[in-house]
Amino acid sequence: MANETKSYFQQKGTVISWWYPESEREPLHEHYEEQLRWVLAQANWQGARVADIGTGKGRFAIACARQGAKVYALDIAPEMLDEAGRAAKRAGARVRFVRGDAENLPYPDRFFDIVLCMETIMHVPHPEQLVREVARIVRPGGLVIMSMTNKYRINALLRLPEELYRRLRPAKSEAPRYMWSYSVPQFRRFLHQAGLDIQTLHGQGLLQANARLRLGRKLSVAAFPRPFALWFFAKVEPPLRETFLRGVMGTVMAVARPTPTSPAKR
Ligand SMILES: C[S@@+](CC[C@H](N)C(=O)[O-])C[C@H]1O[C@@H](n2cnc3c(N)ncnc32)[C@H](O)[C@@H]1O
Repeated sequence: MANETKSYFQQKGTVISWWYPESEREPLHEHYEEQLRWVLAQANWQGARVADIGTGKGRFAIACARQGAKVYALDIAPEMLDEAGRAAKRAGARVRFVRGDAENLPYPDRFFDIVLCMETIMHVPHPEQLVREVARIVRPGGLVIMSMTNKYRINALLRLPEELYRRLRPAKSEAPRYMWSYSVPQFRRFLHQAGLDIQTLHGQGLLQANARLRLGRKLSVAAFPRPFALWFFAKVEPPLRETFLRGVMGTVMAVARPTPTSPAKR
């Protein structure tokens, strides 16, 4: 399973076919833009040594480099790294890209001031190992910013009838599993066990613009009219993002620091 998942990401036409947060045609484009703004507001990037693990097309790596950070970005997918390299060039941003596995990082212990790992923990077979690696490479007093897709997001709850049907009548599938999602308590546990203290836990996307109510295999309807979902996201949701409601929001982001006495590595 682990090798199959990793091979999937290294093949052409896989992740690149479904991950395009930069596109205005992506239904969650505004969500991803807001996520980027929020992350950039969490630290002073000028002169910081930053790792971006699972960089994808480099949207965070490039933005941080443009704020003056020295950025090292890693991904397992050669195709994504090619895209990221081209995007960095277009943006005039210097980023040191490398191909590698997030579960076995090629960086020394305590090397980085800030480690980012955005929207990636759901794609590795051993999430605890990824978080241990992230905790290993951040310096004492440094910062970790990590995000995940929430298992109990409202979108997923709307798909429960379909999911139930799928479990009762599993279809034969050729594709290996490449996505696992976690609840907020599981996410907290991963960070805590790796010796990271969560300082902020921030949710985004209560009523997501891409939420669909599935009525059958091929039939689904938008759960919320898009203009309403966007208005809600921009005007109603912001004060709720650090309340208990983040437990059912689409994305959850944690800002954490190494525990001063962490037995895991110090
Ligand atoms: C959903 S994308 C997120 C990309 C980027 N962080 C962002 O938020 O735009 C997940 C990325 O994780 C990468 N990935 C999956 N498994 C990986 C692994 N074992 N090691 C490193 N990167 C991995 C994928 O190739 C993909 O680029």
